Amino acid sequence: MGVITGTGSYAPARIMTNDEFAAYLETSDAWIRERTGIRERRIAAPEEATSDLAVSAGLKALESAGLEAVSLDGILLATATPDLLFPSTACLVQARLGADKAFAFDLNAVCSGFVYAMSVAKSMIESRAARRLLVIGSEVMSRALDWSDRGTCILFGDGAGAVVVEASEAASKGLETFRLRADGRYWDMIHVPGGGSRRSGEESSPFIRMKGGETFKMAVRSLQESVMEVLSSSGVSPSEIDLLVPHQANIRIIDALATRLGLPPEKVMVNIDRYGNTSAASVPVALDEAVRSGRISEGSRVLLTAFGAGVTWGSGLLTWEAETQKRSRS
Ligand code: UT7
Repeated sequence: MGVITGTGSYAPARIMTNDEFAAYLETSDAWIRERTGIRERRIAAPEEATSDLAVSAGLKALESAGLEAVSLDGILLATATPDLLFPSTACLVQARLGADKAFAFDLNAVCSGFVYAMSVAKSMIESRAARRLLVIGSEVMSRALDWSDRGTCILFGDGAGAVVVEASEAASKGLETFRLRADGRYWDMIHVPGGGSRRSGEESSPFIRMKGGETFKMAVRSLQESVMEVLSSSGVSPSEIDLLVPHQANIRIIDALATRLGLPPEKVMVNIDRYGNTSAASVPVALDEAVRSGRISEGSRVLLTAFGAGVTWGSGLLTWEAETQKRSRS
């Protein structure tokens, strides 16, 4: 059984408020807050890249697990904004952490990336391909934004979150059921045209293009279906969930999902007001904040869910048994 034994996150120091957009774009703090739930977001410093954020979050996760990087078997890094086209950002992180015995690879499922990576981590632990993994979601979305497009630039922010996943004989529960989905027919719903190998046709802009309204409707429908699939195959009802940790794309998406599941606000983790949409970093940052603020404790039943470009979506059910595993280690 795979168990999360440590969490960490990192947010760049620079806070960008809605009023800063209103100063040069036809938008307002009120519109952004009402339509998205976002009050501010973090923006990476010019010299900061995705690997820098990932290393900071990873170190905090290792510290909270009480482990050294050299004891890791592998690093899985979910990102859509890598430092370089190649090598992978995970390899840069592996070197910086001194995780000398670890394999390392990136995984790109955009906003669903962390949920995808956790599902892969669970499978690697259960198949005994690894016993100790660092799973990171890290993004510098600000480098992929067209700052003159009010439909997208106000939505995204930068950040990183990480968890340590370990194999456990002591814990009776941990990473339980994960379900992943994709539908590439909708690849152009949210995409970045430039920077890859396709040169013909569309102009090669390096910035995000998004069909906001269509994405919104599909996100609500897909998240609900995905969550219900995970719950029904685990024999768990929505009322048995202690905390839903959803991808933070729009407060109205989160509220619609919570209403459909009948979950009261105290069972839903929300931090979109402070970070905006940080893509693959959004779920692990929210998870880390939930753990550190005591909203998740030993035995809590937690549901992760995310939807993003691809389109991709997925959910995962877990029971928090970090302390049980840490005790059995010492
Ligand atoms: O990470 C997963 C992927 N992302 C998402 O899940 C995002 C999903 N989509 C959304 O969050 C919302 O669709 C948006 C926040 C992007 C847009 O909100 P909306 O309520 O769906 O607005 P809309 O696109 O229907 O646009 C309504 C109006 C439009 O004006 P007209 O055409 O009615 O005159 C937009 O041009 O709001 C306008 N608008 C804005 N007005 C002020 C769009 N962005 C802004 C803005 N400030 N920043």
